[in-house]
Amino acid sequence: MRILSVVGARPQFVKLAPIASAMEGRAEHLIAHTGQHYDEIMSDVFFEDLGIPAPDFNLGVGSGKHGRQTGTMLAGLEDIFESVRPDCVLVYGDTNSTLAAALAAVKMHIPLAHLEAGLRSFNRRMPEEHNRVLTDHASDILLAPTEVAMQHLANEGLAARSVLVGDVMTDVLYKTRSVLEHRDALLPSGVTPGDYYISTIHRPDNTDDPARLKQIIESLSDLDRDVVLLAHPRLVDIATRHGLSLDSRRLKVANPLAYPELVNAVMNSAGVITDSGGLQKEAFLLRVPCTTIRPETEWVETVNLGWNVLVSDDLSVLAAAVQRPAPAPTTESPYGDGQAARRTVDALLEAGADSGY
Ligand code: UD1
Repeated sequence: MRILSVVGARPQFVKLAPIASAMEGRAEHLIAHTGQHYDEIMSDVFFEDLGIPAPDFNLGVGSGKHGRQTGTMLAGLEDIFESVRPDCVLVYGDTNSTLAAALAAVKMHIPLAHLEAGLRSFNRRMPEEHNRVLTDHASDILLAPTEVAMQHLANEGLAARSVLVGDVMTDVLYKTRSVLEHRDALLPSGVTPGDYYISTIHRPDNTDDPARLKQIIESLSDLDRDVVLLAHPRLVDIATRHGLSLDSRRLKVANPLAYPELVNAVMNSAGVITDSGGLQKEAFLLRVPCTTIRPETEWVETVNLGWNVLVSDDLSVLAAAVQRPAPAPTTESPYGDGQAARRTVDALLEAGADSGY
């Protein structure tokens, strides 16, 4: 069976790593990179560090407005699908690359599988929410990470196409953590283990309004420990345009980290402050308290189990949230056992066999 994975943005490379490895010897696996993320620290380092084979195709679409970016990918992917003729297209998560590949596949009647299906924020201001809902409804196989995601799919009439496989980011995190236990610490320079917070901010709702961004930066600068802000290019760009310094008082700006360095930095931190989806879950899996600057989360289990607190409009409560005591230990594992990639390949091969590929 020939399976074509389409990826384009940083979190998708992390998800691709365990899938590419689980495909070995079981299916013919090809990789198309849309080029949505293109900087070395946003793309290449993930392929190198996580041992992902180099992409077979790279569209190099780069940045742009949503419509132009998605449309350029759609046109380019159609050509790739025509030449590869895959038995199945596998898409990941909720970015513009996900939606473009989903549209290209359904229009060409190529079976479509969506990994990380069924997540919902119910916040229609987020581009990711549109991307994931549209992709789920276009897909033939919905590979869900959690019971909650399965329930969302059932509520939307998609139960018959859904399979609970677990979360592939858990697979890669567990593997990376076990390697790191045998290596020296890879901490950001100038910080003391256990005495700093790790932060990332990149969502348009937090970055695009300069007044909002200024408030967030000031709140982070006033915390009780150093805050290492791993700045996404979008954040650097907007802060520079508005004359906002990302380096003030306790706030220390740094480049985004490669994946093993990120896991190490989180493991050794006193807490995480973020608006990223993946990082909320990584903090939980490493049992590091997380504070999420968003009104809601798709990863509701992290909140229900007490490891994640949401702070949205009222940033005056941020310090109290971040500086709260760590919650009671838990042995719950809502994100699976680190075998989600193997189950994903099982599900794809089974669906392929049923359809006669
Ligand atoms: C995208 C995804 C988001 C995901 C995030 C992970 C969509 C709609 N959003 O957001 O779901 O959480 O990736 O990081 O698909 N830029 C660079 N170099 C790069 C990539 C981007 O400088 O390699 C800058 C450009 O100025 C660009 C901006 O970052 O305009 C935003 O990039 P874009 O891919 O549009 O969205 P992200 O904010 O990265």
